[in-house]
Amino acid sequence: MSNYHIKNFPEYFHVYRNSVRNPELFWEEIAEEHFLWREKWHKVVSWDFSKPEIKWYEGAKLNITENCIDRHLYTNAHKTAIIFEPNNPDEEAQHITYKDLHERVNQMANVLKSKGIQKGDRVCIYLPMIPELAISLLACARIGAIHSVVFAGFSSTALSTRINDSECKMVITSDGSYRGAKTIDLKGIVDEALVSCLCVEAVLVVNRINSEIEMKPERDFWIAPLLAEASKECAPEIMDAEDPLFILYTSGSTGKPKGMVHTTAGYMVYTAYTFKNVFQYTKGDVYWCTADIGWITGHSYIVYGPLANGATTVLFEGVPNYPNYGRFWEIVEKHKVNQFYTAPTAIRALAKEGVDFVDHHDLTSIKVLGTVGEPINEEAWHWYDDNIGKKKAPIVDTWWQTETGGVMITPIPFSTPTKPTYATLPFLGIQPVLMDENGNEITGNQVDGKLCIKYPWPSIARTIWGDHQRFKDTYFSTFKNMYFTGDGALRDEVGYYRITGRVDDVIIVSGHNLGTAPIEDAINEHPAVSESAIVGFPHDIKGNALYGYVTLKETGESRDHDNLRKEINQMITEQIGPIAKLDKIQFTEGLPKTRSGKIMRRILRKIACKDTSNLGDTSTLLNPEVVQDIMDNVL
Ligand code: WT7
Repeated sequence: MSNYHIKNFPEYFHVYRNSVRNPELFWEEIAEEHFLWREKWHKVVSWDFSKPEIKWYEGAKLNITENCIDRHLYTNAHKTAIIFEPNNPDEEAQHITYKDLHERVNQMANVLKSKGIQKGDRVCIYLPMIPELAISLLACARIGAIHSVVFAGFSSTALSTRINDSECKMVITSDGSYRGAKTIDLKGIVDEALVSCLCVEAVLVVNRINSEIEMKPERDFWIAPLLAEASKECAPEIMDAEDPLFILYTSGSTGKPKGMVHTTAGYMVYTAYTFKNVFQYTKGDVYWCTADIGWITGHSYIVYGPLANGATTVLFEGVPNYPNYGRFWEIVEKHKVNQFYTAPTAIRALAKEGVDFVDHHDLTSIKVLGTVGEPINEEAWHWYDDNIGKKKAPIVDTWWQTETGGVMITPIPFSTPTKPTYATLPFLGIQPVLMDENGNEITGNQVDGKLCIKYPWPSIARTIWGDHQRFKDTYFSTFKNMYFTGDGALRDEVGYYRITGRVDDVIIVSGHNLGTAPIEDAINEHPAVSESAIVGFPHDIKGNALYGYVTLKETGESRDHDNLRKEINQMITEQIGPIAKLDKIQFTEGLPKTRSGKIMRRILRKIACKDTSNLGDTSTLLNPEVVQDIMDNVL
């Protein structure tokens, strides 16, 4: 029996038991047998959640790209590593072999070096879903630079905040991007962002859409001529296990985005091991995750996890509805995809369009289906199971977070019996617990509470870039000696977990993690706005949508409310990006507040959800009279 590849349910239980009884031995074996190390560790794990300080495989030396690329060259040089499927179905797909990838990553790494990038420098990557995106991540890792990918749907303000926070020396971008029938001027957004970024010395530009763009002399360089001249050999920088691999920003419930820092060895071991088991990837399979590499899902399960296993991973540039709603299924058929991983929001959007778009395509290659990013509702689960998996492909509902680096609670396909809307059981080595309001662990089954993890795993984030105190406050201070996830969960009669949603001021919209504070900050910058509060409300496709309550400085009928709504959404688009736009905006005379001045979001949430039967005691509010007024005018 191999601990690396779990094949049935008894094996899962057996290995799980060992993994939590003796975690060090367990994680040592996994690391030892399946990766390439330049030097071995002297300690598997050392940790103290009170500081917090977490180290895995201390003393080990490695380069993650040797594990993701070089070692496959001996046996699999001509195997396809990445299948690139362009936005436009008429443009030919590209099959990039491990040998090609090796050369292209090395060339890119040499270009980075020639522009002054060294080990430890931060490089911001703002690219569409094209091969250069995956190659840029790996090129940074090759030379020990820390990549910070910013999703190419974010605005220039969001981009500059992230560039400045981690003081990136370079930005890698493209002239523009294709998105369905539209093109987006990415370089223009970068230029705008860089007006307020003094740290950036060079911008490398991929030519993707052949558009006329401005190139700032001495700062901006087309990548193609530099790559053409670069050597195809680049010796990997030998990294310490705990050297940072990347920074990835995620929204918090307050203030600015959190730059989560992931380090090298533990992240590699955990993403590779979870990839293998969660998708039951076997030799020759074609795996496709539809996420963008700008999110953690893409980092871990398009790039690092699959490549560390020598897998073939699909990278899709486009959108699910272009040229029509059958695009995903057309790609599954074309590349004979065996594992397909997407978000509930995409499933709901496609289900709404009917099964005609599915029925035209041969989906018999599919063996495993996955979902990620938000709770999946029962209806969407069954649609996916019936129409895509044809009731033969197990659905893995994978719960995890940017902070966890890899999948934490999930079924193992063909082992764990699935149950709609349940993420089911902890992955090997993961010790989830439910906590009550008083900080006590809730034992037994058929209970619910706040979801925490009580023992570290190799890919847990190590800090927030530049703000270790915030890391401690956010994740390790609510419950003693626990990592607090921010989610609520229930455990059913057999011990299966179901994630019930965020218990803080983070709202998951279409699988994107949005903090209320930055959106409110953006709204409040509108000159007519006095105050605002954002809550989530259920939405058929997006899971949650955003509802904004806004009070104006001057009230009165004279204001054109529809126009104001447009302006407010425009402000949000500029500050954060279109994903954070509000579906409903209600103008109110005031916001319900506690006597200490804190906005009572609980009440606002209930009103937005039209669930006002049990608002609780509002008499202790500072301004109880506004509640009725808000209820009367709810949208
Ligand atoms: C939050 C993390 C994990 C990569 C994508 C999102 C929610 C995630 C599930 C799931 C219910 C889920 C949680 C979590 N979430 N997966 N399978 N079932 N909720 O990463 O942006 O860091 O968001 O997404 O609320 O805390 P993220």
